[in-house]
Amino acid sequence: TRVLLLNGPNLGRLGVREPDVYGSASYTDLVAAGERWGAERGLDVVVRQTDSESELVGWLHEAVDSGAHVVLNPAAFTHYSYAVRDAAAQVTKAGLVLVEVHLSNPYAREEFRHTSVIGAVATGTIAGFGFDSYRLALDAVAARGSAAQS
Ligand code: DQA
Repeated sequence: TRVLLLNGPNLGRLGVREPDVYGSASYTDLVAAGERWGAERGLDVVVRQTDSESELVGWLHEAVDSGAHVVLNPAAFTHYSYAVRDAAAQVTKAGLVLVEVHLSNPYAREEFRHTSVIGAVATGTIAGFGFDSYRLALDAVAARGSAAQS
């Protein structure tokens, strides 16, 4: 089972960026953790990050075309990108699992973070558990992924 673990803008700055909010572990640590958690669950996980909306949209198209499930931290795109939302909708319409994840709990933060334009087209959302949000998302994919694809 293939999984694209996709990260949006500024997440490449993990460890450097607002460690009080996002923790001191780096993006490199996230890549290693995602690959390890995938292997432990028998999932073929590929971890990527981009600051570009168009690149992220292209990766979501790739997920549809290759039949890969998606764990997506859309970062700031969460709150306003209808382009990412429309691409994410194609993933779940194709019968693939898409888990929206956040390191922080956006509902405990500024007002503009209380809206997700992605949430309604995701299979489900996990937020507020730091790196563990991704681990829990991979658990969800492992639990739902094969059923969703058949
Ligand atoms: C985030 C939350 C977003 O509001 C923010 O723009 C991010 C990271 C998170 O993982 O907590 O960049 O998605």
